[in-house]
Amino acid sequence: MKKAEYWFLRANVRDAKSEVTFEMLGGRIFDIQSSKLERIIYIEKLNNNILWINVRMLTKNLNLKGGTYVHVLFIGDIMGKPGREAVKRFLKPIQLEYKIDVTIANAENAAAGKGLTKVIAEELYDYGIQFLTMGNHVWDQREIRNFIDAEPRLVRPANYPVGAPGQGYGFIRTMGIKIGILNLSGRIFLPPLDDPFSGAIRCINQIKQETPIIIVDFHAEASSEKVALGWFLDGLVSAVVGTHTHIQTADARLLNQGTAYITDVGMTGPRDSVLGIKKEIIINRFLTQLPAKFEVASGAFQLNAVVIDIDEKTGKARHIEAIQRFAEA
Ligand SMILES: [Fe+2]
Repeated sequence: MKKAEYWFLRANVRDAKSEVTFEMLGGRIFDIQSSKLERIIYIEKLNNNILWINVRMLTKNLNLKGGTYVHVLFIGDIMGKPGREAVKRFLKPIQLEYKIDVTIANAENAAAGKGLTKVIAEELYDYGIQFLTMGNHVWDQREIRNFIDAEPRLVRPANYPVGAPGQGYGFIRTMGIKIGILNLSGRIFLPPLDDPFSGAIRCINQIKQETPIIIVDFHAEASSEKVALGWFLDGLVSAVVGTHTHIQTADARLLNQGTAYITDVGMTGPRDSVLGIKKEIIINRFLTQLPAKFEVASGAFQLNAVVIDIDEKTGKARHIEAIQRFAEA
């Protein structure tokens, strides 16, 4: 029996004429001995002599129970330079360990804690993140208005009013499959945007015409609003992951109809901080009630994320696991 499998490889290119050497980043490594390359689907990126390549392999005697699964990594709010350092340090080992096929991250705090610039988005893509989501800080860097409409790898909450730049959902096309990513914002303790519940249904109806695999980033403050949306979308999407509160919650689970859920993925950024900001600034603000300029903390950093396994055919999740990594600066 031969079965087609998709692999995500990285190739180091020495010069234009030399042969490329492949290094496994994803896929099912245990069967590489009995696999052979059928065709290259496409070359995703060329930057600093690194090619990201999606290939189709033919694998003999493959025994996968219950179909083929896509392994998705979703990284919690990347906070400033320490967050980007954490991605640089931890992403590749995590992609190898969990055989990650697709990496998504919330990047609304990636530029010094406020918004996202084009240069920083490119930096995150270079580290191996394929798709970025945003939240209430989406417009903090004014320049994003100049590139968000033309950037297919970046979404902002879909429930911003009609007329706001950017798009609320988008797609990753990789390994011969398509994954939809929908971004929504909560309305409790956040700007009064359109209803995320009915907005989600409208977007999901559109996305379902293209793929059953749908990841929802619900960027919201109140856990009640997040839990409610999780149940509301159970069985309609592959995963609902919460972002924004910067503290990873201990409730990662599969809901009854096959949707993976976590109230908050957590923060990727400075560890000895208050939600990523210098702790002295926030403590002093509580002591005095005086306004103060926020500054991203430095020192030890962390990565918070979830890994989700999703059935490629049905879009149902099989497993969700929260992960954390720490390092001294
Ligand atoms: Fe936020």
